[in-house]
Amino acid sequence: MSTNQIGLEKADMSAIIAKLNGLLSSYHMFYINVRGYHWNVKGEHFFTLHPQFEELYTALQIQIDEIAERILTLGGTPYHAYSDFTQHASIQEDKNVKDGNTCVKGVVTGLQALIEEQRQVSAAAAEADDQGSADLVDAYVQEQEKLVWMYNAFLG
Ligand SMILES: [Fe+2]
Repeated sequence: MSTNQIGLEKADMSAIIAKLNGLLSSYHMFYINVRGYHWNVKGEHFFTLHPQFEELYTALQIQIDEIAERILTLGGTPYHAYSDFTQHASIQEDKNVKDGNTCVKGVVTGLQALIEEQRQVSAAAAEADDQGSADLVDAYVQEQEKLVWMYNAFLG
């Protein structure tokens, strides 16, 4: 048995690294979807949604970097190519969306997918004694659960 630089079993960590790379891929797909909503949204809620989507993708960008650097901390290599993101993401591309409510529904769907994927990452990480990775994604889950409520409240 061999351990990585933070004392976790390398064999266990390769499974966690793979899950975190899947999550990193999902974040990238969601990130670019939200940028699309920011750019393309039209209609009476433009001045509300345009900055709101910017706030969201800015937060996602920070989380992307934290997930990638967690992968490095565990001894892995984060995906860094769109071909990998496309292949491993749990979120699909959402193209040519302009209507405000449709954009918000895309945000809710994306957040729900991230939450679900992160619950699985968290459970697997905790099982492998990797509480650091579990805590990282648990904090995102808590934040995103609140965002689901708020975006759903917008939808009425
Ligand atoms: Fe902008």
